[in-house]
Amino acid sequence: MPAEAEQVDTQTPRRSPYDLVVIGAGVVGLACAWRAAQAGMSVLVLERDGPGAGASGVAAGMLAPVTEADFGEESLLELNLAGRELWSGFAAELEELTGLSTGYADDGALVVAADRDDTEELRRLHDFQRQLGLDASWLTARQCRELEPGLAPRVGGAILAPQDGHVDPRAVVRALVAALERAGGELITSAEVASLDTAGGRVEGVRTVDGRRAGARTVLVAAGAWSARGGLAPEGGGPAVRPVKGQLLELRVRAGHSPPARRIVRTPRCYIVTRGRAAAEDGAHVVIGATVEEQGFDTAVTADAVFRLLEAAWEVLPEVGELELLCARAGLRPGTPDNAPAIGPGDADGLLWATGHYRNGVLLAPLTARTVVHLLRGAPPPEALRPFHPGRFDSSRVA
Ligand code: GLY
Repeated sequence: MPAEAEQVDTQTPRRSPYDLVVIGAGVVGLACAWRAAQAGMSVLVLERDGPGAGASGVAAGMLAPVTEADFGEESLLELNLAGRELWSGFAAELEELTGLSTGYADDGALVVAADRDDTEELRRLHDFQRQLGLDASWLTARQCRELEPGLAPRVGGAILAPQDGHVDPRAVVRALVAALERAGGELITSAEVASLDTAGGRVEGVRTVDGRRAGARTVLVAAGAWSARGGLAPEGGGPAVRPVKGQLLELRVRAGHSPPARRIVRTPRCYIVTRGRAAAEDGAHVVIGATVEEQGFDTAVTADAVFRLLEAAWEVLPEVGELELLCARAGLRPGTPDNAPAIGPGDADGLLWATGHYRNGVLLAPLTARTVVHLLRGAPPPEALRPFHPGRFDSSRVA
């Protein structure tokens, strides 16, 4: 009889200290962990649930800095554009290393106007995009339908942003877990961190609620909407991250039907993302999102959200009505007081933050990971990241 395979304990930290312990196995935490492990560091990720169980498992995966650009968020836009730049190489490397798809698609996005109010709003948005030098052009109704024949006759014009794209965040999580393991990193699931271990003002590790301890030269908090919960910051410090609920729908294109659109289609009320076969074994999926709600940690799916999202999508892409409705989900985006991320050192030595990415967690994951590795190597925070220092909400520091 063959000898029984040796049981590997995957639930206990294998060494102490690690160079890096990451709290949270969402896209941001896993991307940071993977890049750090690739850079030769010993890395452990602790996840209180499963990989991608937070916002990453619900997100639509938009890589859309141009169509998500908003008035008054110019420095965030710079960061988002830099984040978008990294994605094609990041996806290609992940796919090559793991053989797993990320669902990366760069077909662009159309922001369409369903009525006259929309047209005026989008004209203003387009003027703003042009002032910022963004790659966005105005299309007439006819040009819109030439690009996306499924658009309803009521669509009177649109902004085309050819550089925007999307990935499938759940596929990205699977690929990141595989890549992390290949790079020698460890991941322990069902491991909720209760507190940071500190000594002499320095963070030296973490303790889980069930008593496991992992020593660390650096602890990175990448726990999304849960980042500000008790225990994850020395003496309650750290960025004030709040949950911002987003509900979205997932649908499937039925056999014999075509997807309603190729590109991302958005209106001021919803976005519609078509994920191709590469990301879904059972045919193209269509995601319709998303609400933006301040409801604390509530993740109930509401009839109102399902109704409004479907109606908003159907009014511009009537073929949506022919799709099979698979599910509705609600996730919690991590929002900070200025809705921009908090990336960089915390108050205590040995502590880093990578949280508060709000609507841009997937988009900014590769850039956040690059920044975190840069900081772990002892380099000063890059100039472009200064507006996103985690200490910017601390009034004593500002004073
Ligand atoms: N970035 C899309 C969303 O947060 O809904």
